[in-house]
Amino acid sequence: MKLPCSLYCTMLSLMLLGTGSLLLLLVHLQDLSNAVPHQPSGLHVLVSPRRPAEDLMTKTETEEAAVKFKVPSDLLMDEDSPLVVVTRQSVTKRHRKLLLKSSFAASSATATVEQQQSLKMQQLVRTQESRRRLLKDVCAKYHPGVREQQVSWQQVSRIYVEDQFRLLYCEVPKVSCSNWKRVLMVLGGSKASTQDIPHDAAHYGNHLRRLDSYNSSGIASRLSSYTKVLFVREPFERLVSAFRDKFESPNSYYHPVFGRPIISRYRANATRTALRTGAGVTFREFIQYLLDVHRPVGMDIHWEPVSQLCNPCLLQYNFIGKFERLEEEANFLLQRIGAPKNLTFPSFKDRNPLAERTSSKITQGYFSQLSSAERQKTFDFYYVDYLMFNYPKPFKDLH
Ligand SMILES: *[C@@H]1O[C@H](CO)[C@@H](O)[C@H](O)[C@H]1NC(C)=O
Ligand SMILES: *[C@@H]1O[C@H](CO)[C@@H](O)[C@H](O)[C@H]1NC(C)=O
Ligand SMILES: *[C@@H]1O[C@H](CO)[C@@H](O)[C@H](O)[C@H]1NC(C)=O
Repeated sequence: MKLPCSLYCTMLSLMLLGTGSLLLLLVHLQDLSNAVPHQPSGLHVLVSPRRPAEDLMTKTETEEAAVKFKVPSDLLMDEDSPLVVVTRQSVTKRHRKLLLKSSFAASSATATVEQQQSLKMQQLVRTQESRRRLLKDVCAKYHPGVREQQVSWQQVSRIYVEDQFRLLYCEVPKVSCSNWKRVLMVLGGSKASTQDIPHDAAHYGNHLRRLDSYNSSGIASRLSSYTKVLFVREPFERLVSAFRDKFESPNSYYHPVFGRPIISRYRANATRTALRTGAGVTFREFIQYLLDVHRPVGMDIHWEPVSQLCNPCLLQYNFIGKFERLEEEANFLLQRIGAPKNLTFPSFKDRNPLAERTSSKITQGYFSQLSSAERQKTFDFYYVDYLMFNYPKPFKDLH
């Protein structure tokens, strides 16, 4: 039986909680990445027989695209760039300078458009560089020595593999994971267009393979040579988005499995109906559960910190995108890996399409239902995510 990703993964995490020691460490990345050839022999077997028309690009071109990624260190930037990459004003100013220097100074408006494009690209490249550097610093401080550790199957179980474009994508629920799956299906050639893939098809029988389904050399070779991608989101927003999705509309899994124990533990005088259905968990009850060391039911991937889901200190992602600039950054990535030009990142909202997307304003509303001590503890819970991905404190009174 095939289950939707979120359901399947949750059950998996619950199972793992019970059998934590089941999975053995298997790959010594450092050793194996040296021993394994760049192009594993098993790769051709895995390539989908249906290839998109554009995928006539040679491996060399794909590799070139990957190499272009590595920017010279003099392009490093200290700070993450602001939401708007290049403002109109700064474009004009910088352009005048560029145009003066350029031998194409007298050329047409096309050149200007191209130059704008190239400035934007440079900015995106620098943003990546600075995000990777920040992550490395935070990892050195909070998880020293992790980079040298062995990688277990469980640690790569959230990662999807796309062999033709040599991509590894770590799935973070509530950060447009369904749209990423659609893109991976098109890249892999199992679907012609992201437009044709309904939500269920993105999760059921999606032909996508996870990294933990390979043997140790298959895992090590991909980890060492593919573009590793992670997309993150403001942690409180992701949390509120998960709460709204799982508890505010009917859900035949989350209400009985999480709602029931949460209501029974944290609600005084719960009605018999509430205890039976598990429907109607309040945000505050949900937070009480989240912060409880003795939770009546386990954690779940939808609210698990990204620092634990995707093991960023161990796996050293090449690309760290942000939900707040999703389309721009996802399309930049697609361009960089040499994806077909007509493949752009879709903007479907899958779950509860009629409900307003969780914004920072909506998030603030939910958090205002909590005491300041609860807010602080929730911030502490996601503190490492805040640090690793450079999100500012969401409330002034937090420390
Ligand atoms: C791993 O899998 C590949 C491809 O399926 C195969 O060629 C290789 O022999 C396997 N290696 C080991 C150590 O089992
Ligand atoms: C892109 O163009 C190719 C033909 O060049 C077509 O087969 C494919 O369906 C198109 N993809 C999208 C996403 O429109
Ligand atoms: C629960 O019920 C008891 C007895 O009916 C009442 O004294 C108490 O105030 C109720 N507690 C809450 C939180 O409603």
